[in-house]
Amino acid sequence: MGGTVVEVTEVGLRDGLQAEPRIVPTADKIAVFDALVAAGLRRFEVSSFVSPRAVPQLADAADVLAGIARRPDLTLACLVPNEKGAERAIAAKVDEMVTFVSASESHNRTNVNRPIADSLRGFGEVARMAAAHDIVVHGAVATAFGCPFEGDVAPARVVEIVGRMAAIGIRGVTLGDTTGMATPPIVRAVCGAIRDAHPEIAVTLHFHNTRGIGLVNVMAGLDAGITRFESSVGGLGGCPFAPGATGNISTEDLVYLLDETGHETGIDLAAMLPIARRMEQLVGHPLPGQLMKAGPRLALYPLDAVRRAVG
Ligand code: COA
Ligand code: ZN
Repeated sequence: MGGTVVEVTEVGLRDGLQAEPRIVPTADKIAVFDALVAAGLRRFEVSSFVSPRAVPQLADAADVLAGIARRPDLTLACLVPNEKGAERAIAAKVDEMVTFVSASESHNRTNVNRPIADSLRGFGEVARMAAAHDIVVHGAVATAFGCPFEGDVAPARVVEIVGRMAAIGIRGVTLGDTTGMATPPIVRAVCGAIRDAHPEIAVTLHFHNTRGIGLVNVMAGLDAGITRFESSVGGLGGCPFAPGATGNISTEDLVYLLDETGHETGIDLAAMLPIARRMEQLVGHPLPGQLMKAGPRLALYPLDAVRRAVG
């Protein structure tokens, strides 16, 4: 082996479940989490400390955190939109708070009911609260590759927001493609602009497969030197506050691509497939992940497993 190490953050329990009509019971979320850890995942967005009225699917964030067996090699991150969320995240002993803002004004308003400037002002207080409890703050920029209300988002806009995050001490930033508007040239442009302006920032890419090129965008990200990606078991996911949003790239499909291109993730693809199928049962509808249906390319079948086309 000896390939480049790629860090995969599993966001299925957060981004994945936040838009599902069926609310998954806390005990099932914890069981899926445990299975994902057994499959080799180490970094998670486990839930959001947002308004339970806005996102009832994640109202049990504190219970999920309390029910998970903590290990020093795991990182448990949760979305935090404001000071109230920070208080709840501190009480639940999260490892990381993810403060988030959209790169486009209209999505920020639908998502967190305030202008971008107010979100950015709020980050300072959240960061102070986190620092007082030795909790890392991670930044996330939604609609970083395009906005369903405003269209193209200028890379300079993303650079400016990342700069504001860097100024309050944030060192890791996720660029989110909330409604799957990224294309390889856009990925190259945004990643290049961030690298030039803020080489100290560790960039993570978060793609949705809305238009079928999520993994193509991962390849563009890898070519741009990015080694951190977010994905969701079974390809679950979508922002409830963006029209036409669909699932994240699937973790199994991502791991398959990374395995086949000589990257190391520490994740056992074979162990992921039953977890994706379990998630499908929990949400009660088919999931878009492809490996969970087809298996890896060298999973061979006995010749008598199919009907023979004899005339
Ligand atoms: N956790 C729990 N409750 C919260 C909260 C938090 N982090 N923030 C606010 N609330 C409660 C308030 O206490 C208040 O409750 P009350 O009416 O019972 O007193 C109510 O929510 C409204 O508070 P307000 O500050 O006016 O919030 P808002 O209505 O402007 O909504 C957000 C702002 C940020 C709380 C809300 O838009 C939200 O949770 N967005 C999250 C969106 C999301 O998760 N998107 C997907 C990820 S990209
Ligand atoms: Zn997302």
